[in-house]
Parts: sequence; C-alpha cells; structure tokens
Amino acid sequence: MGSPVVLGIESSCDETGAGLVRNGRLLGHAVASSMDEHARFGGVVPEIAARAHVHTLQPVVRRALDTAGMRLSDVGAVAVTTGPGLSGALQVGVAGAKSLAYALGVPLYGVHHLAGHVAADTLEHGPLPDPCVVLVVSGGHTSLLLVRDLARDPVVHLGDTRDDAAGECFDKVARVFGLPYPGGPAIDRAAREGDPEAVAFPRPLTGPGDDPYAFSFSGLKTAAARWAERHAPERLPVADGAAALQEAVADVLTRKAVAACTAHGVGTLVVVGGVAANSRVRALAEQRCREAGIELRVPPLRLCTDNGAMIAAVGDLLARAGAPPAPPQLSVDPSAPLERAALTPVAPATASAAGAA
Ligand code: KG4
Ligand code: ZN
Repeated sequence: MGSPVVLGIESSCDETGAGLVRNGRLLGHAVASSMDEHARFGGVVPEIAARAHVHTLQPVVRRALDTAGMRLSDVGAVAVTTGPGLSGALQVGVAGAKSLAYALGVPLYGVHHLAGHVAADTLEHGPLPDPCVVLVVSGGHTSLLLVRDLARDPVVHLGDTRDDAAGECFDKVARVFGLPYPGGPAIDRAAREGDPEAVAFPRPLTGPGDDPYAFSFSGLKTAAARWAERHAPERLPVADGAAALQEAVADVLTRKAVAACTAHGVGTLVVVGGVAANSRVRALAEQRCREAGIELRVPPLRLCTDNGAMIAAVGDLLARAGAPPAPPQLSVDPSAPLERAALTPVAPATASAAGAA
C-alpha cells in the first residue's frame, strides 16, 4: 500500500488554503484571500477573516481537487493548521478538516503553521537535508531554527525575535509611509525606485556583545517612523525609506542566518515564510550563501505566503513517518510555540461536560 493523498487545510490568518500532496509531491492546490476585505482597516480583522473562511473553505477544497484532477474520495488523510494564528480563523479550518476526515473515515493530523512554512520548500526542492538551518520570516514570526527530521525530531530554536516579526515591521512601517496593506509587498515594490543607502537605519542586535541569532525589529520600526515624521507627508521620499528599511531587514536576517550555518557546520540554509518573498531578502541571501559556500533553498513565491499545500506537505511527512493521528477532540492553540511539526491541542472539557462527570 502506498502513502495516502493528504489534503491540507490552512486558515490561520487571512488566506484560506487547500492543497493535495502525496509522497512529497504537490498534486494541486488553491488559495483564496480575504486581504481586500481587510485593506480599508489597515490590518487583518479577526472576525472578517473567520467569516471569510466559512464562505471559502468548501470552494477552495473543491478547486484544489479540480487542479489535481481528483475527487474527495481519493483523499486518504487530512491535515489542518491548529496554530498559531487567529483563534476564530483556526477553528473554521479545524471544524472543516474534522468533518471531512470523519466523513471520509481517514486519519486527521494537526499541524503547526510554521512547520508548514518549512515543509513548503520540500514541494519544490525535495526532502530537506538533515540537518539544515531554517530562517522562518512571516508576519507573526521570525526564528532561526535547526531542523533535523521535521516529522520525527523536535525543532531547535537557535534564536527568535524578541519583539516584532520582520513582516510586522514591514506592515507597520508601510502604514506610516502611507503604503497599502499588506505592507511587505508594497515596501518591496516602492523600494525598486529607491536608494538603499539613503537612510542609515539601525541593524538591531548585531553588536559584538549581542546574541548572534536573536532578532529585534521594534527599534527599527520606530526609527523608520521617526524618520518619516521628520518630513511633510507629501514630501516623504517613500522609495528611499522603503529601500533603506528593506536593506536593513534583509541585512540582519541574512547575516544571522549565514552565521548560524557557519557556526553549526550546516551546509544548507532554507528561507521560508511570507517575507521570503521579498526580493532583497532573496537576493542578499543568495549572495551571502554563495560567498560562504552554503546551499540556499527558498520556495517559489506562491508557496512562501500562506497556503494549504504546505500543510498537506507536513501531513504527508507525518503520515509516512507513522505519526499517530490527532484525537477527535483536536482543538486550536492560537499562540503555540514551534516545538514539533505535529500540533494536537485538545479542547478542555466544557463546564457542562465537567459538571456531568
Ligand atoms: O507567512 P505569511 O503569508 O503569513 C504569516 O504566517 O504571517 O506572511 C505574511 C507576511 C506579511 O507581513 C507580509 O507583509 C509579508 O509576509 N510579505 C512580504 C512580502 N510578501 C509578503 N514582506 C516583504 N516583501 C514581500 N515581497
Ligand atoms: Zn504564515
């Protein structure tokens, strides 16, 4: 018997994603985004995101099946993001995944969202080498990880951000610069016309006494906001500010990631998460890895931002590793730290159930 076709479902933030993976191969996927509905509020509104997932989950699953040329009955396991993310948004995905798994009579796997970002790269470049250093940079997280066997071993955190995530820094500064939401892609576009050396923004935690793998982006965010405040809004050189901010973020991220590889004798760096879509982060990572003799792996753009294929990729790894399926009481953990790829929080007993016991 071969490995099952795994349906992956992602709904932790504003993207509803469904993907189908078998044996490390991406068979098809589809993503719907409620981004436009949040734009006028300048950030994701949790209730709007959750409601959008309710509306789009089924059509997105159907589209993913269509792109793979498959039927629901071909699905042999279901994987779903159980955290971290927005509670209501996560719950929609988990409820949907449970109903599908139980209706089909197939195993269900709970997956940590960030493990999904890590596994996204395997769909393009094959199995991850053991060990590898992974830089996860998204809207909510910035971490430098030492990854061995993603399905079996705990993930080692070499360093994390102490405050804001890199994507959050882009999103918040973009707002101050008068750029649209989401800020990361807007900064990336604006930076094309700018001079990265126009403003000398700080490079946080890169001093000799600093933790070599920890990150901090809130000071950089404040520095960019202060710089913007020194200009009349209509005279703000947005392109220069964007280019200089992007350069500072890309510099710190890639410098620390390459240093981690070198110090740990690891030959492969994997850069994943929404911010891995940033053109300067990609280019600088390429240049510095080349200089240091390190192999760089970055997923294609469409697999960098949130999607269901990456969750299916983790489900596929878990299924093939013989991991136990999640229990029927599978719940969500909106703030789960990344410890293992499988994340199976269980709902606490309800007051009435506890009372009846
Ligand atoms: O991984 P992701 O889709 O969602 C989270 O799990 O957070 O990442 C979203 C983040 C946002 O902060 C967004 O602004 C950022 O990724 N992002 C970018 C780019 N594309 C997306 N940041 C910089 N440059 C980009 N091209
Ligand atoms: Zn994400």
